[in-house]
Amino acid sequence: MKILAIESSCDETAAAVVEDGVNVLSSVVATQIEEHRLYGGVVPEIASRRHCEAIVGVTEEALSQAGVALSQVDAVAVTAAPGLIGALLVGVNFAKGLALSAGKPLIPVHHLRSHVAANYIAYPEMKPPFLCLVVSGGHTQIVKVEDYTRFQVLGRTRDDAAGEAFDKAARAMGYPYPGGVELDRAAQSGKPVYSLPRPSVEGSPYDFSFSGLKTAVLNLLNQARMKGETLSKEDLSASFQQAVCDLLAERFLGAAEALGWRKLALAGGVSANSGIRARMEQECQKRGYNLYIPPLKYCGDNAAMVGSQAYYEYLAGSRAGLELNAAASMPMEDAFPLEGAALGVRHA
Ligand code: KG4
Ligand code: ZN
Repeated sequence: MKILAIESSCDETAAAVVEDGVNVLSSVVATQIEEHRLYGGVVPEIASRRHCEAIVGVTEEALSQAGVALSQVDAVAVTAAPGLIGALLVGVNFAKGLALSAGKPLIPVHHLRSHVAANYIAYPEMKPPFLCLVVSGGHTQIVKVEDYTRFQVLGRTRDDAAGEAFDKAARAMGYPYPGGVELDRAAQSGKPVYSLPRPSVEGSPYDFSFSGLKTAVLNLLNQARMKGETLSKEDLSASFQQAVCDLLAERFLGAAEALGWRKLALAGGVSANSGIRARMEQECQKRGYNLYIPPLKYCGDNAAMVGSQAYYEYLAGSRAGLELNAAASMPMEDAFPLEGAALGVRHA
């Protein structure tokens, strides 16, 4: 089954054609990063406009690279939540138009579910159940992936997401947006010599809190500035990255141990971080756990992962009608309403 998938939840306009959930026939990503960099972060209104401009070309390119016509795909899938509402709406309405005009089923996909599915593409033998650490610019969650479309969130961040913390700390250190990857690069030539806190959430062993860590970085920088000293950016980056690695590893592996689950995965943009990848690999090897990490090209936002998850959503019976709406937030446990549900149509 060939699915044409569309992704526009943040600042990447992407389209892909994916066969049977694992075979990527094409994956095209147009990034807007250069433009948002001018403002130090994503400007939602600009993101929506750029999606409008790019989406037709990106989709045509994805079909052309896959060597299939729209009439030859079996379904159209789209990220419908969560994300920037104006950005999501562009993809959702475009996908609705395509599905209607081509007479194809429309499959709505949850953005975080699709990040998890990036692992199925990279490792075709990989199947639920497993425990997944989803770390992106907007979310940080420890998730029981019980089945392809059944999830249970065990822990989440109480304030900043891991990617947000990386970007804010990086911005304070003077790196351009999005600073996570720059901070990662600098950390590789630094030493974790600065002392930073490892905040915890009382009574919630699997929840995260990153804002105190970010504030500690800001305080170090301000104190140094007042004293006329300069800190080593490389060492501060390495110290910050190590603190994030400690927080993520302690909670994620703690959850795995408590559940007795030995199959683990990472997902989301922050799983591209070299420190996190190395640390998790090392810890999992020590404990005898199987760890899956998506290759770099499927860590960040892309539509191949949407096409993968959509296949499993389709098999589970998910279909949307033209009443489908985008949502800025939505728990990943929840399913989208079925086609016609709002109109009171019964499904057999
Ligand atoms: O999953 P993603 O592409 O978009 C969202 O769904 O949010 O994640 C983007 C986030 C950004 O915060 C970006 O700075 C971060 O992932 N990121 C990294 C690295 N590469 C991307 N953070 C730390 N180290 C990296 N190498
Ligand atoms: Zn994402």
